[in-house]
Amino acid sequence: MGEIDRIAEIMHSYKQDPRYLLALLLDIQESENHISTEAMRAVARYLGVSESRVYAVATFYRTLSLKKKGRKIIRVCMGTACHLRGSAAVLHELEKGLGIKVGEATEDGKYTLETVNCVGACALAPVVTCGDDSFGRMDPAKAAELITRGAFE
Ligand code: FES
Repeated sequence: MGEIDRIAEIMHSYKQDPRYLLALLLDIQESENHISTEAMRAVARYLGVSESRVYAVATFYRTLSLKKKGRKIIRVCMGTACHLRGSAAVLHELEKGLGIKVGEATEDGKYTLETVNCVGACALAPVVTCGDDSFGRMDPAKAAELITRGAFE
């Protein structure tokens, strides 16, 4: 089943009533990992609301994303302590290794790369997290090694 069919199925599980806008978008986010332009258009038509209203809701809530997100989010801390100890180079290495820029998801939908401001483990700076795992005292070589040995899997 393609994205459009899945979205149609989700939409038809709701009544054509604008008050279901947020619920519908949350379901689409869960199913597709993001809200595409096509999805926003389809939802606007289905609920009889303007596309700009759908867009406004889709961009207001942090759980909703217009960009496709990977199943796991790798975060590089760019807080002061981490920055001073070279987190930018770690981020660069991860971008190179994963073949994406910060804010993007890998082609296979596995990972999204993000930055964060202090994860509260400054003594271990620079820090990278992935889900519940965190990796401290990072440097570019260690970052490359984490990717090679599948530490983010
Ligand atoms: S600045 Fe990175 S953990 Fe605090």
